[in-house]
Amino acid sequence: MEGVGVLDFGSQYTQLIARRIRECKVYSQILPYNISPQEIVRRGIKALIFSGGPESVREGNVPLCNRKVFDLGIPILGICYGAQLMAKMLGGRVEKGEKREYGKTVIYLNKREGLFKGLAEKEIVWMSHSDCITALPHGFKRIAFTEHSPIAAMEDEKRRFYGLQFHPEVTHTPKGKRILKNFLRIAGCAPTWNMHSFIERTIKELRAKIGEEKVLCALSGGVDSSVLSVLLYRAIGRNLIAVFIDNGLLRKGEKKLVQERFKAYGIDIRVINAQNLFLEALKGVEDPERKRRIIGRLFIKVFTEEAKRLIELGERRIRFLAQGTLYPDVIESVSPFGGPSSTIKTHHNVGGLPKRLGFSLIEPLRELFKDEVRRLGRELGLPEEIIYRQPFPGPGLAVRILGEVSKRKLEILRLADWILLEEIKKAGLYHHLWQSFCILLPVRSVGIMGDKRTYERVVAIRAVESEDAMTAHWARLPYSLLERVSNRIINEVKGVNRVVYDISSKPPSTIEWE
Ligand code: XMP
Repeated sequence: MEGVGVLDFGSQYTQLIARRIRECKVYSQILPYNISPQEIVRRGIKALIFSGGPESVREGNVPLCNRKVFDLGIPILGICYGAQLMAKMLGGRVEKGEKREYGKTVIYLNKREGLFKGLAEKEIVWMSHSDCITALPHGFKRIAFTEHSPIAAMEDEKRRFYGLQFHPEVTHTPKGKRILKNFLRIAGCAPTWNMHSFIERTIKELRAKIGEEKVLCALSGGVDSSVLSVLLYRAIGRNLIAVFIDNGLLRKGEKKLVQERFKAYGIDIRVINAQNLFLEALKGVEDPERKRRIIGRLFIKVFTEEAKRLIELGERRIRFLAQGTLYPDVIESVSPFGGPSSTIKTHHNVGGLPKRLGFSLIEPLRELFKDEVRRLGRELGLPEEIIYRQPFPGPGLAVRILGEVSKRKLEILRLADWILLEEIKKAGLYHHLWQSFCILLPVRSVGIMGDKRTYERVVAIRAVESEDAMTAHWARLPYSLLERVSNRIINEVKGVNRVVYDISSKPPSTIEWE
């Protein structure tokens, strides 16, 4: 797969750079900063971008790229640390700046051609650095400066090497995308990467790989597994078997919804009723981590048994297991700071299965970011209500019932949660919120209903705004909405006499309560 390689030097924006390039309809992949030149050639990469990073090239023992990368004859764009690294490795000088530049900064352009084509003499850019390039490497020219950076951008037009002290990938640099597009044009990367071409290529590859064999996949009804199933169905039709496990910890109406929707697509969906199994295993368990482990293990067990059963029933041709792994989970970063790959969530990963059952693994979404999966879903004709569903955790309502899980508690939570979502949707806020849900607390409180003392359960409401779940703000829901939800829950859900609103953000709180 050709396109642009983004070498990761540990910047918090590395993924953003890769996404921006893809937004320009050019394929991009994140690569280890010390990747070999041979590997770059083998992958057919047409241009490189060096990310920023937290280190200073003035120090010893900092991440460097392979020196021979500069001899490959492909264009390179260095950003912040990447630009300083380029300057230093090619013979320029980097020193500690007199003043740290942080945030919005005015930049003056010496040249408005090439990388800066279409820009004004003066632009706003976003800076975050304390080191400065103070002497250009041989063959380079300065193309921009700021009040505190004598060299805010440089180029070697002949070799097509560019260095930017600022960050074109963030939205605070309004012309950043224009600059990236200019770089892609200079590099000869045509804007041909789009979802339509992705689907065509992936379907062809899937058919070639799978042939007449069968594929098993776990379908949860969430965005990733839904898109995965429909994509596979497009490729191999009824040779896909989708397994939906009802663990008894699902939201109201969820099983029916998934079952009906995917049957309507023509997908062979097998629903496994394992509610009792899960509830039995969770009996007496209060510790959140134990609950998660039990659910995770049981999920794999139930899934494995179903696979074995299908094979015994004569589905001998099941050779593959499909999984909705996304790009952030497979990034091959070896960044010294953990890098993006350290954010992997192993939860609910059926990754251990293929070996145990002799399956081969297929992961058709492994090149995609979450927003691209949504675009893919839309291109495949999935309705908005699937594509823009709020996330729901694998362990389900079990991590929203604090303490021991029971059938009765599940019933209470299911109904309260349903009411909340109904009202949130009515208020037109569902898509605006990252998540909105109810939690059942392990306490009772005193209330009064119809002149009688009550001593009943407490439901908490959680609604957060977030970009990626790494951080989240509690949502400022209108009081009128909170009032309606509270009234309805207390009136309609038997056993609840108090509703509270969670006003904590992440960090320090997490989104889920367990
Ligand atoms: P926290 O609670 O860590 O959650 O702030 C961040 C995001 O991840 C979801 N979440 C999970 N998703 N399995 C999942 O598939 C899990 O075990 C799990 N725990 C949390 C959570 O809903 C939020 O979107």
